[in-house]
Amino acid sequence: MKPRILVLYFTQTGQLRHIIDNILQDIRDKVELEYAAIEPVTPYPFPWKAIPFFDTMPETVQHIPIEMKPLPDHIMNGQYDLVIFGWQPWFLNPSLPITSFLQSPSAKVLSGKNVITVIGARNMWLHAQEKVKMYLEQLNARLVANIALVDTNTNIISTLTVIRWSFTGRKEAKGLLPAAGVQEKDIQLAQRYGTPIYTHLTEHKLEQLHQELMMIGSVKLNPGLVLLEQRGIKNFRYWSKYIREKGGPGDPARAGRVKQFKNLLIVAIFILSPITALAAAIQLQIKKKSLLKDVAYFKGLKYEKGRI
Ligand SMILES: Cc1cc2nc3c(=O)[nH]c(=O)nc-3n(C[C@H](O)[C@H](O)[C@H](O)COP(=O)(O)O)c2cc1C
Repeated sequence: MKPRILVLYFTQTGQLRHIIDNILQDIRDKVELEYAAIEPVTPYPFPWKAIPFFDTMPETVQHIPIEMKPLPDHIMNGQYDLVIFGWQPWFLNPSLPITSFLQSPSAKVLSGKNVITVIGARNMWLHAQEKVKMYLEQLNARLVANIALVDTNTNIISTLTVIRWSFTGRKEAKGLLPAAGVQEKDIQLAQRYGTPIYTHLTEHKLEQLHQELMMIGSVKLNPGLVLLEQRGIKNFRYWSKYIREKGGPGDPARAGRVKQFKNLLIVAIFILSPITALAAAIQLQIKKKSLLKDVAYFKGLKYEKGRI
């Protein structure tokens, strides 16, 4: 009998589905595949308008769920040997549709299952993956591997292109700017993960899969990002509370604070982030040993509360 794999994912632009399709390219005929999209009742429009985009931050950071469509019964009742769980970070946390799904009754589909997380991000996904690990643990799911694809351009370039993509829908290269998102060649190369997934699944050695995939580059991590995320998340926690004091999502009473946050984020990205990156490079030399330990931890599957 062919192994049964459930592909569970959310994507606004289609990028994550494209990544997963490439991962499964070489093994799609050898397995039974079932796809289930994670969908909010009210979809987020894409491209985004600026205020709704930044207004999504507080609830995303605090994991305050939105209403989600339940998964169909045939998915909930299906028997799966493996679940591929595709998610993306928003504001250093899993996207709000993902945390909403993970807190919904449909998340029970993950209970007792082997799970591979697949991430398609700009480049900051560490804190968010810790939250995904936490939910998976609560759901009694078994995380067996993680594959993280990121935009490998510099922080400033990837920020500029993701902003253009998010607010205009334009992904392609233009002028001095490269195409937005994960590089197409890296998406194509994700095909190399399929066969090891299949062999480890059918030979019942999933506990070795993550190490195997890491050897062929499934998770690459720049130590400086650990420090950048630690700083970023503290600020997001503060601003999410400050904005929510004035009301819930879309409340006109909080629009002023949302605008302040937007302006601050722009300053932080383009002015403070190069300074923070420099400070991080210095800290990296001083704290090299402990940071390398952190890097090894974040590349791994274990969940320890409060690591970031
Ligand atoms: C509201 C919002 C916030 C985002 N925040 C982050 C982030 O914190 N870290 C990151 O690496 N990428 C971030 N991104 C990029 C997304 O993770 C993702 O790669 C991109 O939006 C492609 O979306 P899709 O997977 O839904 O198609 C953000 C995108 C959006 C729309």
